[in-house]
Amino acid sequence: MPRIAFLACPETLPGSPTRRADAFEHDLLFDAINAGLAGRAELVGIDWRAPMAELSTFDLSYLGTPWDYTDAKDEFLARLEDLEAAGVTVCNPVEVIRWNSDKLYLRDLAERGAVTIPTLWPEGAGPTEVAAAFDHFGADRVVVKRRVGAGAVGQDSFSRGNPPPADWRLDQPAMIQPFLSAIQHEGEHSFIFIDGQFSHGLIKRAAAGDYRIQSLYGGVEVAVEPAPADRAAAEAVMAMLPFEQAPLYARIDMVRLDDGRLAVIEAETIEPYLYPLQGPEFGTRMAAAMLRRLG
Ligand SMILES: Nc1ncnc2c1ncn2[C@@H]1O[C@H](COP(=O)(O)OP(=O)(O)O)[C@@H](O)[C@H]1O
Ligand SMILES: [Mg+2]
Repeated sequence: MPRIAFLACPETLPGSPTRRADAFEHDLLFDAINAGLAGRAELVGIDWRAPMAELSTFDLSYLGTPWDYTDAKDEFLARLEDLEAAGVTVCNPVEVIRWNSDKLYLRDLAERGAVTIPTLWPEGAGPTEVAAAFDHFGADRVVVKRRVGAGAVGQDSFSRGNPPPADWRLDQPAMIQPFLSAIQHEGEHSFIFIDGQFSHGLIKRAAAGDYRIQSLYGGVEVAVEPAPADRAAAEAVMAMLPFEQAPLYARIDMVRLDDGRLAVIEAETIEPYLYPLQGPEFGTRMAAAMLRRLG
């Protein structure tokens, strides 16, 4: 029977003392895929830092919830490369992970014709860069993010009336965007693709008083059947991914610009949460796609 590693980390593995409050997402994802596999393959949750001798015994490695990779990106990429070299099918492939692990990929997608959020890419950000961004975008509010990051960690939002303190600095490659108000009334759309095919969609809304849609900050998700034009916008982004083979999984996150078009905020192909509760067919589809890759 084929064996599939569900790569995770101490922040997400069940029973770990350092498990995060939102690690229930790990359980939902794991259980949905495991149910979909229905005994046709063994699914094992395992730390991506486990010994190679153990990890290399699997036929396929799925990047389930290795959430701590953002603080150890090089180590993570090296580990995935070792796995591929050992003959393990890594999903998504290292080539895809490498491209997706620096949000500069959004500039890549923009060059390929995707609708993206206008973005400045300073090597670091402080009060000067933020002030320049207000003027550049003609915006009263901006969001400052890390180029390598996830889960809104290290992210800040400033307005002209509430600028960063003089000693505030983001000391790493940064990105600054105008604050899109649609995030607060409409929310952020997610479109889940399995093997390049649209599987399900949802809208994520922030808790009152916050603008971050992550469950950790009180955000909630609602399953939606996307409007045909919105689904087409997400499919267009999928078609612009610079890879020959469609990735096993991808989540296209989109927010509406003031002009009404949906812009891609993230095209997540590393370890996106795939919202199994909002897509009843998700587990079956993912399992089938994994088994196809195992031949
Ligand atoms: N330009 C923006 N305008 C409004 N809200 C934003 C903007 N950029 C990010 N956010 C909010 O912050 C969250 C995290 O940002 P995102 O770009 O998705 O990075 P990540 O999820 O990798 O941390 C988004 O889901 C959204 O709620
Ligand atoms: Mg996001």
